[in-house]
Amino acid sequence: ARLAVLISGGGSNLAALMEACEDPAYGANVVLVVADRDGCGGVEIAKDVGIDTAVLKVSDYAERNEWDRALAARLSEAQPDLVVSAGFLKMLGSATLAAFPGRIINTHNSLLPAFPGIHGPADALAYGVKIAGATLFIVDDGMDTGQILAQCAVPVLDGDTEETLLERIKVAERAQLVQTVGAMVRDGWRISGRRAILNSPAD
Ligand code: GRF
Repeated sequence: ARLAVLISGGGSNLAALMEACEDPAYGANVVLVVADRDGCGGVEIAKDVGIDTAVLKVSDYAERNEWDRALAARLSEAQPDLVVSAGFLKMLGSATLAAFPGRIINTHNSLLPAFPGIHGPADALAYGVKIAGATLFIVDDGMDTGQILAQCAVPVLDGDTEETLLERIKVAERAQLVQTVGAMVRDGWRISGRRAILNSPAD
């Protein structure tokens, strides 16, 4: 399966996926990495091993819709089976969503529907929850609202700062992303109303 990965940051989730893809049994390859800004470490990681990369900045386009159409076009060229948003900090527009219906997934660092948005771990800490985690879901036109494919939990410890909690979440989040994407490309998945269901290998 062909994976396109969208990033805005360091790309540790991307790096974990790339490492998994080194094993042919994993069944996937990263064919394109798109960033929405300069200076994303993940773009360099991908370039180093010859993966196609692109930087598409909203500010380079007169309108947000034009950026969205350019993103949809660039992604379509790569013919991905799955688009993985891994720390991508822009909402996708209608052109991109329409180009890959039900095939764009995002990893978020909270247990949705609690703490959507870009400050998930800080919000969880401020609220005082005892369990935090990460959610992998199918992207729709809302913010962190799509059907949930997988969730993993980590404890919030008494001495936690935003940094220590985020790091604990990210370790679990990367493992979840790698495992779930592997299962999705090998066995497929289906949607039933609000529920996203991973097919079992026997299906
Ligand atoms: C992840 O924790 C993701 O949930 C959040 O940003 C982080 C991305 O980290 N939206 P990285 O760039 O993959 O290291």
